[in-house]
Amino acid sequence: MRQFAAALALALAASIVSAGSPPAASGSNVPDIETRRSGLQLAPMPRTAQLYATNCQGCHGEFGSSAAEIPTLAGRVGYFTRIPEGRRYLVQVPNVALNANSDADIAAVLNWLLATYSRAQLAADFQPYTASEVAELRQARIDVVASRRRIVDALLAAGQIPSADTLALPHIVLY
Ligand code: HEC
Repeated sequence: MRQFAAALALALAASIVSAGSPPAASGSNVPDIETRRSGLQLAPMPRTAQLYATNCQGCHGEFGSSAAEIPTLAGRVGYFTRIPEGRRYLVQVPNVALNANSDADIAAVLNWLLATYSRAQLAADFQPYTASEVAELRQARIDVVASRRRIVDALLAAGQIPSADTLALPHIVLY
């Protein structure tokens, strides 16, 4: 019986090998040799853009603008960095704070997002997020609606946004 089990295990292993196991994922986003030979032109995606694509884009869209009740990031998100509570909020918003990636990756994707989609709105003295800042800020659980309202009011009062509509949430009725 033990011999039979061993033979079966060997046969299974052999069939897995002969079926051709897929090449181990390299972790790189540079196109492999076959893709390059095929003539397909694929620009390698920087790691931060890849982080955004796999963690954020499903809701916030490829170019930082989304439908329905999901806030548009493009041309807007940088305004939040103009006051301390707004800077904290960008890390504490649930899909950022609770994201499974490391503090360093969250800092990197936020810095990338701000520079790519909202550079013109950044605080004049904006300093990029660091991993340790993210580590500390993401511990807090905030009341998103109340915080956001408070921040928008404060930005408006400080003359940092042209009007309350600047950061208004889209209200698209789908049905
Ligand atoms: C499952 C959908 C979803 C995913 C995934 C998601 N978000 Fe969001 N995001 C939202 C929603 C909805 C809000 C509005 C606040 C809330 O209800 O949590 C929001 C708010 C935000 C805000 C605040 C914008 C504002 O105007 O208030 C930022 C910044 C943000 N998200 C960035 C990110 C980043 C960076 C990622 C990827 C790491 C991400 N989000 C992933 C749905 C998502």
